[in-house]
Amino acid sequence: MHPAPPSVFRPDLFAGRTAVITGGGSGIGKAVARELAGLGAIVVIAGRKKARLEEAAADLIADTGGVVHAVPCNIRDEGSVKSLMARAAALGGGRIDYLVNNAGGQFPSPAGWIKTKGWHAVVETNLTGTFLCCREVFHASMDEHGGAIVNVIADMWRGFPGMAHTGAARAGVDNLTKSLALEWAWRGIRVNAVAPGIILSSGYANYDPVFRQVFLDMADNIPARRLGTEEEVSSSVCWLLSEGASFVSGATMRVDGAGSLWRMSWEVPDHDAMKRYGGRSVEAILTEHAAIEEDAE
Ligand code: ADE
Repeated sequence: MHPAPPSVFRPDLFAGRTAVITGGGSGIGKAVARELAGLGAIVVIAGRKKARLEEAAADLIADTGGVVHAVPCNIRDEGSVKSLMARAAALGGGRIDYLVNNAGGQFPSPAGWIKTKGWHAVVETNLTGTFLCCREVFHASMDEHGGAIVNVIADMWRGFPGMAHTGAARAGVDNLTKSLALEWAWRGIRVNAVAPGIILSSGYANYDPVFRQVFLDMADNIPARRLGTEEEVSSSVCWLLSEGASFVSGATMRVDGAGSLWRMSWEVPDHDAMKRYGGRSVEAILTEHAAIEEDAE
């Protein structure tokens, strides 16, 4: 049982609406599922691990008294995504009103050591999987009935050192969000994204103690001077899905305590590997400038 946080939205905001949330069995996805179910939506959580998903659905029902279905799906598999959307449409009486593309996965590695297989796996999950879910929800329901999609990406605005694959994939989803917003506006479909910064999510419990402290210390580089919460991301997702955002499409909302505007993101060792054009030293340049000024006097 989770102490369901109060939502800022009215309790029946999503009554009678159907929402699919990929990666809805844990973390941010589960928080979104909890808020949507609490606000009256029929919620379908999708993920790869059946037992974990069913357990999450039971939790969410206990937390909210709402309607939550668990539908196993591998978003990298076209057939699996088609089945998910067909099942969700059936559960929603023929329509899916909302899709939250939250499922994702990556692993830390310096870029030079990412194997091709690992690169493809991350791009397939985060970028191709998101695309497949968008395309199939379009055909299963939204082309006919309209709807709203929110893609959960990441703070990758200044690159994503240490996980270059996920940065590239999430940047791709940011652009996909804009393309779909433009192509599907005339079908009554809004497509937006949310870019969470560093979030104190349920995954924190799995970190080793040393990394836990490193993670908490990241607050030093966030103007808000704290990490975000899953509920703070969920609240933004819910607003983008809601009618209150009916003129918002193609937007990416940063939920990061202004962290993405902060400069220092990566320790760069002292080095002289980036040679100046022409190969002159700082001393030579300064001497040259001083001579020019002397001449001008
Ligand atoms: N979460 C992480 N990877 C996933 C995948 N391939 N399908 C569904 N949920 C996921």
